[in-house]
Order: sequence, then structure tokens, then C-alpha cells
Amino acid sequence: MNANQIRQTFKDFFESKQHKIVDSASMVVKNDPTLMFTNAGMNPFKELFLGQAEIKYPRIANSQKCLRVSGKHNDLEEVGYDTYHHTMFEMLGNWSFGDYFKKEAIDWAWELLTDVYKLEKDRLYVTVFEGDASENLPKDAEAMGFWRKHVAEDRILMGNKKDNFWEMGATGPCGPCSEIHIDLRSAEERKAIPGAELVNKSHHLVIEIWNLVFMQFNRRDDGSLVPLPAQHVDTGMGFERLCMAMQGKKSNYDTDVFKPIIRKIEEFCGKPYGNDEKVDIAMRVIADHLRAVSFAIADGQLPSNNKAGYVIRRILRRAIRYAYTFLEQQQPFVCQLVPTLAKEMGAAFPELVKQQEIIEKVIREEENTFLRTLAAGIRMLENHIQKYSQEKITCFDGKLAFELYDTYGFPLDLTELILREHNFTLDHKGFEVSMEEQKNRSRNASMIETNNWVEVRPGTTTVFVGYEKDTCEAKIMAYRKAKIKGRDVMQVILDETPFYAESGGQAADSGTLESDSEVIKVTDTQKENNLIIHTIDRLPNDVSATFHARVSVENRRNTESNHSATHLLHFALRRVLGEHVEQKGSLVTHERLRFDFAHFQKMTQDELMKAENIVNELIRQNITLNEHRDIPVEEAKSMGAMALFGEKYGDTVRVIQFGDSVEFCGGTHAQSTGQIGLCLIVSESAIAAGIRRIEAITGQAALEFVRGKFAQLADVQSLLKGQADLTKGIEALIETNHNLQKKLEEVEREKAKNMKTNLLSKISKRNNINILAEVIETDSANLIKDLCYQLKNEVPDLYCVLGAAVDGKAMLGVMVSDNLVKEKGLHAGNIIRELAKEVDGGGGGQPFFATAGGKNPANLDKAIKKALEMLS
Ligand code: SER
Repeated sequence: MNANQIRQTFKDFFESKQHKIVDSASMVVKNDPTLMFTNAGMNPFKELFLGQAEIKYPRIANSQKCLRVSGKHNDLEEVGYDTYHHTMFEMLGNWSFGDYFKKEAIDWAWELLTDVYKLEKDRLYVTVFEGDASENLPKDAEAMGFWRKHVAEDRILMGNKKDNFWEMGATGPCGPCSEIHIDLRSAEERKAIPGAELVNKSHHLVIEIWNLVFMQFNRRDDGSLVPLPAQHVDTGMGFERLCMAMQGKKSNYDTDVFKPIIRKIEEFCGKPYGNDEKVDIAMRVIADHLRAVSFAIADGQLPSNNKAGYVIRRILRRAIRYAYTFLEQQQPFVCQLVPTLAKEMGAAFPELVKQQEIIEKVIREEENTFLRTLAAGIRMLENHIQKYSQEKITCFDGKLAFELYDTYGFPLDLTELILREHNFTLDHKGFEVSMEEQKNRSRNASMIETNNWVEVRPGTTTVFVGYEKDTCEAKIMAYRKAKIKGRDVMQVILDETPFYAESGGQAADSGTLESDSEVIKVTDTQKENNLIIHTIDRLPNDVSATFHARVSVENRRNTESNHSATHLLHFALRRVLGEHVEQKGSLVTHERLRFDFAHFQKMTQDELMKAENIVNELIRQNITLNEHRDIPVEEAKSMGAMALFGEKYGDTVRVIQFGDSVEFCGGTHAQSTGQIGLCLIVSESAIAAGIRRIEAITGQAALEFVRGKFAQLADVQSLLKGQADLTKGIEALIETNHNLQKKLEEVEREKAKNMKTNLLSKISKRNNINILAEVIETDSANLIKDLCYQLKNEVPDLYCVLGAAVDGKAMLGVMVSDNLVKEKGLHAGNIIRELAKEVDGGGGGQPFFATAGGKNPANLDKAIKKALEMLS
């Protein structure tokens, strides 16, 4: 079977077991502060496991794009060096939400692997959780019993908490698991050492292919395990490994998932795969990272300098460095592989084909930038090696190695290799300390710390009424303490709320909670999984009171106008520039809107005006908001709704329609476009290769902006003494100014000439030295230097010291003819340091010319006197 058939067979099998087959959710996670990327097929269903969302389909199956590069699940360092770990991989999964449990999960897994995929039974081993006394968890005898029906006793192995108790992260749903491992070694090898001895021993041919997790607990932040409201099944099978097993290969990279990419790499760089371990590793790294980065970009995550964007940038840089060093590619290389990837995987993941051009451009630009840094990094390393050698140091600073790793993208092994060639060792400890510090920094930056909820009333769901109302009656269900970026705050969950939680680019609502006796400020509203969390300035004295929850209405109306204007702008841009315009990001606040979109050139003034005109035309048409709530995704798409990245398979969506503008959107909007009043584009710029950014303002802000411009014009008009044509008036001023400037320069030149003539007449001769030491009058700091150089050219054997008071400061210059430097040992730099002391300043320079500045111009005469004394 080829890879596509293997994937399809999985889906067909579970469909026949009454599972709903859904699309992969985005690999880039939005709205979950604890997770940047989908790292397991179960992530998109976290709320279902925790009982925080309604279960529409109790059985679901799919192939989910996953990325394991940070946090609890991180395989990055293994990638390329072995043949079965990946950053991005597909996880085939089937889920039961409170429906079937261990028996069916085990029976079906066995049936699919052995009856359908026809894998040899005697190559398979299963593991069962042995229990853990410290957590008070018993051995999973139940799973053991179900496995015994299919598998001989000596192939059922007991596993500890590390291998057989699966947890999503530090907190969240978890439970005991049973893994299925496969032994892909040859008959002789299997005879020599039984596979059972190699399970979980990092053998590249005895590998885990499927993990069946029996979700029973929620791990809380205090480390305790609490039983979940219902029992679930979460299984995950490594698609690429399954392909290797099915296709009789010894490496994931030899399957048809990777082979076409490896072939292209061979073709482009003219080196074969399989001859040289270093080249092979590089090719595997590049093939793997190409997928991770391309899928991330397709899901809306561009490489950047922080958080998820930084993770993607680092993965890409790792690939670029391997191409540079081991495949000798000094020009953008990874981007050239995108068409092959899109061709091979585009049928299963159409987003790759749709976004192929942008993925290529973004990667190319990143490569161009990093290739420049890479060369600089190599130079920096070599410079330090040279410096250290001179100082006879042979241990390289770990901090510097970390800087190379982090800033220049040098993996430690490359740095070490170069160091070894120069007989250097590396301070590993220093490197690790810096690495740890950085990890802590990024952990702190991305994480919020929260205590457990304190329940006030039972239940945790919130009814959001903010689409219809700005205020409602609300009761606190639960509260907790949290630390956000180091600041202590209180947070509450309400039974009903009008507050919009920041999402889909729309800023959070703020406002108040008012009871009969107190007013509490709501400073922020955020979504955490399915919960709406309100951050408040203090906990009310009476948490059980009934409150009036009030959204700050003025801000909300302005935000709505900006959000609706964003939709109109998106629509207008597609009209003016073409259908390739896709939203790449957006920010809507009460002050302004920002819209990032795919487009390859700077927009012209004409295009900007056209887009602005369309938006304002739609505003004047006063189109009524047409809101469709809870409609199935497919129906929304058939209405022409523009799907955004980041949507996961959901049962229903909300669609916002203003005439022909139709978008998936959960935000709040103007009731009709007329409410927006006026929309003005205030800037258009590039934010990355192929991504433009427009900023715009609406309503009162736009009015004030225009008023501000009028006021400025009025000021200019009055400065121009009522001249009717402002442009002409300003042009005339510029010209006059220009002419005056020219005249002024002429006068300055003349003055300098006179001054020079005057100075020449003051030169006296002593001991064959032409001496000039004078204070001159000038407003130009440069004049001293100019005069010194001119005099040097005209007067031989010159010792010249000039001083001036410029802008209340003392300036000094010393010029010494070259022959005097040599013959008499005069040194302008040393002389000026002494003179500078007289004027409370400092200075320095070369032996023939030096300058100084000082705070005390009144003492310039003293400095000049000293200059003469120093000569005698
Ligand atoms: N969540 C489990 C895993 O990631 C099974 O899907 O291995």
C-alpha cells in the first residue's frame, strides 16, 4: 500500500466502526496558553475529555498534523540522527468520548493491524501499565485481560509510569496506556535477540507504532490526579512509522512519504543519499524540517522572533545550516523543495497547494537572511579562536557557544567540531547554564501561572450574551489567583457574561462588575479552552453576590466598527488585488485595526485609494449585519465564507455577512455598516516576504485624524500669512531656504579663508618649529579640524593648537607635522589629553592629529598657554 492508501484505510476502518471522520485541526494552536503547537491527535479534543464542551460525536477518528518541538513532547534533537523521529508527523487517531473503552480500543487496534494491514503477529509486542505506588495507581489488569485474548503472554510486557502513563503536559487529561511495538529486524537478528528485550530501548527497528491511552484522570497544577467525569479513549498511531512497517522499509525516510523529497534533495545538491552518514543526516534533517515549517506556515504561523514563530524560525535555521555545511548549499535551498512537498502531500492536505507560493517565498526570505548570519557566525567563531590562541586559552567559553547556537543557529556539534580542529575544548557547563536560562525565559514569557479554581457555585460553563447585550446579571461561579507575566491578579468565571474574550484578533472587553455595595473593574477577558476568564482588579468582599456585568460601551462600539471594517477591507482588497489576498493575521482594538494579508508587492497609491473607496462605499450603503449562528462548517463554506487558518473541526460555526462580504467569525460587529462612519487607511507596509500590513481607523478616531490634519493645515496657512496656495507657499520657502543656505556656506568659506590668512600671520618660529596656538571664534565644530588640516598642508614643521568655544563648550584641536612626530617625539594625542584637563574635558587621537572637548570654555586661554609650555 502507498502512504495515501494506508491513511485512507485507517479512516475507512474506523468509519466502519461508526466513527465520524474529521479533518486535521491546525498544527498551530490558538487560544490555549499552555500549548503552542498540536503535539498529539487528542489536543483539539481536550475540552471534550475535560467535560468542558458538549459531545456531538462520541466517536471520532482522523489523521492529525502534530509538531513535537517544545515542552513535554520534544523530539527535535533526535531528528535526522535516527530514522524514526520527526518534528512534524501525522498521528492517526481514534477517540471515544465517554463511549467505548479499553476492550473495543484493544480489539480494534489488533484487528486493524493484523487483519486489515496484515502486519505479522509475531513481530508485535504490547505493553501494559504496571501501576505506580507513589501515585496510588494500580496495575492495568483490565487491559492485560483484553490483550491476552489476542497476544501470547510473553509478548505482553509491563511498563512503568514513564512509558505507560500518558500525560498531555504538566496539567490536563491523562491515563494509563498500552503501546503496540513492532520488531522490523531480519529473521536472524530476531533469533539472536528476542524483540521483547529491545522494546523501549531506542532500537531503530524495534519501535512503538501505536499508543492506546485510556483517559481517566485530570492532572491538576498541584500535581494531584482527579478522576475525569467520564472515561475516554485516545489513541495515536505514528503514520510515518506505520508506512515503514507496511512497506517493509528500515527507515521512515525510505517510505514514499519522504523518498520523493530525498530524491529532490539529491538532485539539487548532486550528492547521493546513503553514502556518507553526515550527508544522510543533513538530508533527513532537511526533509523533516521542510515539512514542519511548510505546514506551520500553511497554518498561519510565520517564522518570527518570539514564541511559536521563533520555534519555526529555529527549525528552519537548523535545516539551512545542515544544507550549508554538509550539502554545500550557499544559496536558498529548502524553498526549492516546497513544490515537491505540495505535490506529494497536497491531496491529503490541500492547504499546502493553496499556499505553496507564500510558503516558498517566506522560506526563501528566511534563507536569504540566515545565510548572511551564518557566514557571520563562522567568522565570529574563527575570530574568537584566534583571540583565544593568542591568550593561550584552550577552553572555549560556553556562553559564546550558546550565542552561536542561539543567535547564529549553530548546533553545538558544529561548534565543537570546529573547536576540535583547533585543539580547543568547550565549556559545556557554561553552555548548559545559558541554555537553561534561555529556556526559563521563554517558559516565563509564554506561561501564565494559575492556582486551582475555588468553586463558589457548581458548574463551570458560561453563557456568552455579548452578541446581543452590553450588560447582564452575573454570578461568580469560581475564582482563582493567577500570575500573568509576574503580576498577581484575580480571575473569575461568571454564569453569564457580556464580556468578549480576546480571540480571532479582536481585543478583550473591559468594564465593571457592580453589586449593590461594590464596583469591581474587569481589566481583561481571555479564553482558556472553552472557559471565559475575567481578570479583575480585586476579589469582591461578597463573592456570592449578584452583579451587573457591564462592558465599557464606548470601547465596545468602536471595536465593533473596527472589526466590521476589517471584513469590508478584506473584501475590498480581494476585489482590487485579486483572490490570492488571504488573511494572515489581524488585530482589532477600540483604537484601530490592523490587517495582514498575502500579497507580493507594495500596494500603489491608486490601489490603496480604490480599496478605501470600496470600503467607504459599503459603509454608505449601510448594509445590515446578517449573522448566522451555529451553522455547519460545510454550509458556511458553500455560502462563500472565507475560512481562516486555525479552524479545527467543529460542529458548527458562526458566519458574519455584510452583503457580499462573508466570513467565519466569532467577533462582535456593527449592527449595520453605517455605524462605522468612515474608514481611513493610515499605513501600508511589509511585515514578511509576501505579507503586507494595512492599518486603518474608523468612526470618531477617523474624524479626529482628519480634524488633526485640518488643524495642521490651518496652522501652516496662518504661518504662511494667508497665502491661498499652500503647496506653492511651502515650495517658495524651501527654495528661499536653499538659496540662503548656499549663501551662508559661501560666507563661511570666505570667513575661514580670512581666518586662515590671519592665523598664518600669527605663526612664530622657535627651534625650527612653526608654532601656532590660538583661540578662534567660530560656531562650527568642524572648522578647527578643517583649519588644522589646511595649515598642515601649507606650513612645514608645524605645531598647531586651536581652541574655540562652540555652543558653550570648549573645543580643542592639535596638529603636528609628520616629521615632528618622528624626529621630536611630539604626540598630538598625548598633548591634547593634558590640554583637555584645563577645560574640564577629555580627548585623544593619533600622533599627528587629536581633538578634545571640555565643559569650561573660559579656560581655553590656559589650555593654549599650556600648549606653548609643553613645547619648551
Ligand atoms: N495521546 C497519545 C499520544 O500522543 C495517544 O494519542 O501518544
